[in-house]
Amino acid sequence: MAVISFDKLTKTYKTGFRKKKTALKDFSLDIREGEVFGFLGPNGAGKSTAIKILLNLIFPTAGKAEILGSDVGEKEIRRSVGYLPENPYFYDYLNPVELLSFAGRASNMDSLKIREKTESLLNTVGLWNERKRAIRSYSKGMVQRVGLALALIHDPKVVILDEPMTGLDPIGRKQVIDLILKLKSEGKTIFFSSHILEDIERICDRIGMLVNGQLRRVIDFKKEKLIKSLEDTFIEEVEKAGGLQQ
Ligand SMILES: Nc1ncnc2c1ncn2[C@@H]1O[C@H](COP(=O)(O)OP(=O)(O)OP(=O)(O)O)[C@@H](O)[C@H]1O
Ligand SMILES: [Mg+2]
Repeated sequence: MAVISFDKLTKTYKTGFRKKKTALKDFSLDIREGEVFGFLGPNGAGKSTAIKILLNLIFPTAGKAEILGSDVGEKEIRRSVGYLPENPYFYDYLNPVELLSFAGRASNMDSLKIREKTESLLNTVGLWNERKRAIRSYSKGMVQRVGLALALIHDPKVVILDEPMTGLDPIGRKQVIDLILKLKSEGKTIFFSSHILEDIERICDRIGMLVNGQLRRVIDFKKEKLIKSLEDTFIEEVEKAGGLQQ
């Protein structure tokens, strides 16, 4: 069974009077249990649109998406899903310990487990020493790190990250890579978008390239050795798609 499945998804946004933008066109993709899947595509390709549909934040115009065999509209699957949005924004008068505690309680975790998980996650993302400061006073990269911890507080089976490395310094990027690999070793399934090809190549089992809302190519690194660099392969796929549509 696929852990995440996109089935013939189309999403059209209304952008003005009689104006529309089709962000996803007949997009189908299955993500397997335990894999790290990288979602690539130029700016505006439709990556965040697909991810928001998975989180039931927006609804497809046609087609459907499922997580662990249930429609993404089903409430029970929330417990199994961790999500980092593209532009995380939190109750910024809280410090990260308070925020994680709030999220843990909302997920019905007991207070001991919340305390343990908060300490280990804040250490992992390098914020333990800053834990008493309100998020309001955090830098962009620090907010991103809080977002990662928040996505994982309830120990989800399926982890969906929209550009987790964006805004992070090299140490932060390495911490995220190590974190993703640790999650994989625990048997979690990770689906993430990124523009950092170097990182993608390092940690993904498979990648999917989305251009103008259409899945152009899936590469399985176990089965396929790229002849060209990932960057050249990516540029080639954009060219084959006829360039970028505005
Ligand atoms: N709420 C919206 N209303 C209208 N158009 C939208 C909306 N959200 C996204 N779009 C359009 O849909 C297309 C896909 O956007 P999306 O955010 O999914 O791209 P992306 O692949 O995540 O890009 P990036 O790499 O820049 O994050 C873009 O053309 C964008 O302008
Ligand atoms: Mg995006």
